[in-house]
Amino acid sequence: MQQTRQTQQTQHEQTQPTQPASTPESNAIGTHIGAVVYFSSASENTARFIAHCRLPDVGINVYRIPLRPKDAPLVVDEPFVIVVPTYGGGDISKALPPQVRRFLNDRGNRSQLRGVIASGNTNFGDAFCAAGDVIAAKCHVPFLYSFELTGTPEDMRKVREGLRGFFLRLAAAETDRSD
Ligand SMILES: Cc1cc2nc3c(=O)[nH]c(=O)nc-3n(C[C@H](O)[C@H](O)[C@H](O)COP(=O)(O)O)c2cc1C
Repeated sequence: MQQTRQTQQTQHEQTQPTQPASTPESNAIGTHIGAVVYFSSASENTARFIAHCRLPDVGINVYRIPLRPKDAPLVVDEPFVIVVPTYGGGDISKALPPQVRRFLNDRGNRSQLRGVIASGNTNFGDAFCAAGDVIAAKCHVPFLYSFELTGTPEDMRKVREGLRGFFLRLAAAETDRSD
């Protein structure tokens, strides 16, 4: 395990020579199957949703994109699904929070992105959860799920179980490719 981590880091350093991988905000409990990276502003709706999903209980590491520009940038060196709230006030070209744009502009981070989940507010009509459409189109990953504000208990259950299945299928597909 230590050897694998060292190898991943060495590969990552080819594109990010000065930035070691960040540590998760919450570590997977038991068998580790994948990771989620999320952003949440000062209103913390997405942070509350993520906490209620209890992702570490199903083996998922949780990383948070920092809010303030002066915080050290997040560097993730394992496959992840991003969970992102939509901003822009209805202007789809501004749907991504700048912190999320900065995180995904890093080639090393982007190479580990496997899917997107977006949140928003239905008051914004056609721009509801537009951040998910923007990331899916630009990064060529599936838009897996959308929810409103802090989500419902049903959203939390679907995201927890959906991510578990998603990462297990991803691991099986990678095993098939290496056979
Ligand atoms: C200034 C502002 C602009 C927003 N623009 C949109 C939007 O274009 N589309 C959308 O679906 N939700 C929009 N929202 C709603 C947020 O996505 C929603 O409140 C989300 O839960 C915020 O998550 P956070 O508290 O984790 O940052 C906007 C909210 C604010 C405050």
